[in-house]
Amino acid sequence: MGICDGRVVIVTGGGRGLGRAHCLAFAAEGAKVVVNDLGASLQGDATDESPGAEVVNEITAAGGEAVVNGDDVSDWDGAGRLVEQAIETFGGLDTVVCNAGIVRDRMLVNMSVDEWDAVIRVHLRGVFCPIRHAIGYWREEQKAERPRDARIVTTSSGAGLRGSIAQSNYVAAKAGIAGLSSAVALEGAAHGIRSNVVAPVAVTRIAAGMRPDDISETDLALASRGDLDVELPTAPEFVTPMVVYLASEACDFTQRIYSAASGRFARVFVAATRGWYGPLDRPASVEDIAAHLDQIDDRSEYQIPTTVFDEAGGIREWYPASRTSRD
Ligand SMILES: NC(=O)c1ccc[n+]([C@@H]2O[C@H](COP(=O)([O-])OP(=O)(O)OC[C@H]3O[C@@H](n4cnc5c(N)ncnc54)[C@H](O)[C@@H]3O)[C@@H](O)[C@H]2O)c1
Repeated sequence: MGICDGRVVIVTGGGRGLGRAHCLAFAAEGAKVVVNDLGASLQGDATDESPGAEVVNEITAAGGEAVVNGDDVSDWDGAGRLVEQAIETFGGLDTVVCNAGIVRDRMLVNMSVDEWDAVIRVHLRGVFCPIRHAIGYWREEQKAERPRDARIVTTSSGAGLRGSIAQSNYVAAKAGIAGLSSAVALEGAAHGIRSNVVAPVAVTRIAAGMRPDDISETDLALASRGDLDVELPTAPEFVTPMVVYLASEACDFTQRIYSAASGRFARVFVAATRGWYGPLDRPASVEDIAAHLDQIDDRSEYQIPTTVFDEAGGIREWYPASRTSRD
């Protein structure tokens, strides 16, 4: 028995790198996998490669169940065919893992609008289109009293959460994915749809030029291990277990972001300082802001805005005020 036994899982960009590792792990955990991959170059240009078919062969040779899909996930009709293929082939759909991605790196001052659009399209439309089709299907199933235990896992990046040089298109897209996943978590809660995010690090072709110690999440992993001499693993398989967990029925939470890098798994938050409380009888003046900036910036006490859901998926609290670092 695997943690995903019988579940039907779509992995976009499943032919290479992280997506390939996810597909193989899902199959090993008992899932029926739709391996989507356009066979794109790193910059998103079409090639005649079919990496998805190779992954399907690997899965079936090991006794698992998988089919290949070669659609472009950022194309509305293509994403619709992908979701339809999962339902027709395996009788339903339980999880969508949005992983497909490209890069077109350039300093912002030289970036063309085509480079901007191409990256935003694959990452943001490439998440919106498949999950929009999937959510439509899940809502119809719920109405027909055949609810699925639906999960969405999206792929952000440390770059999207903290910025990166010569990647403004990618940074904007990856930050957008984190926000989109959060919105889906809020809207989907009442329908049993859980949506979480992974920010991975692995040496794949996207990250081929990086050394482990160039990567800040890996720095964090090192620091938290307290052993600066160890060589950290950078294979995609060191990210995948978190993705498989978030995709499974065992995952009973939503609207979270996890970093998964070099064997370290950590939750990532958006946090606010306790801040300075301005006057209530008049708006604060600009001078007030200048005078209280130290307090506004003071990180000794911070608050983590958290949504608390009730049993039915309704929202009970948006910002539980009592949760600060001093509580
Ligand atoms: N590798 C890392 O360290 C790292 C770090 C942060 C985020 N990520 C993200 O992880 C995801 C996977 O990246 P990877 O490192 O495995 O890269 P990769 O290039 O090895 O794999 C990406 C796959 O997506 C496919 N693809 C591209 N455009 C597509 C489209 N429109 N439709 C369908 N498939 C498409 C490509 O053909 C490729 O096989 C990406 O979203 C990437 O941004 C990777």
